[in-house]
Amino acid sequence: MPQPIFALLSALIAALALSTSPAFAAGDASAPTTRPAGYKPIAGDAKFGEKLFTDTKLSTNGMACASCHANHGSYSNSFAKHYPHTVTMAKEQLGQQSVYLDEMIQGCMVMPMAAKPLPWNSKELAGLVAYLQIQQKSFKPSR
Ligand code: HEC
Repeated sequence: MPQPIFALLSALIAALALSTSPAFAAGDASAPTTRPAGYKPIAGDAKFGEKLFTDTKLSTNGMACASCHANHGSYSNSFAKHYPHTVTMAKEQLGQQSVYLDEMIQGCMVMPMAAKPLPWNSKELAGLVAYLQIQQKSFKPSR
């Protein structure tokens, strides 16, 4: 094929690839699922977090956190450990060696929930953290 058309086509393909790639970059230190500089978590309302946990409006694909995590489902044994710790999914897909609980929630927001991270200083993120801290206490690793 003539060269200009080829160049145009490859530019188009590159643009397409970019627009369909997820909103996060693996291993990117500025990835929005990592705490912003100077981040100070705010206290959250666990009752509000519990409500959000079952709210499909947080995702773009009809999922709620509870679709996977009801009754302690889908967690690996790492959930029993104090944060920050290594979570395989965050490590492999986001390049984060170790995550705080809020960072993991953001990871699930962008990966399985196919949504944007929650605003870092929001009562939504703080509420989910507070609720999950309670869930963590009754979580028993399977092995
Ligand atoms: C489609 C399924 C799915 C949905 C929906 C989902 N997650 Fe997850 N989540 C996972 C899987 C799978 C893991 C385990 C990853 C691993 O251990 O490698 C995980 C891990 C976690 C962990 C880390 C546990 C640890 O080992 O420390 C937390 C916390 C978490 N999810 C919270 C949430 C929250 C909050 C939401 C909703 C905003 C959510 N998840 C939505 C599948 C899901």
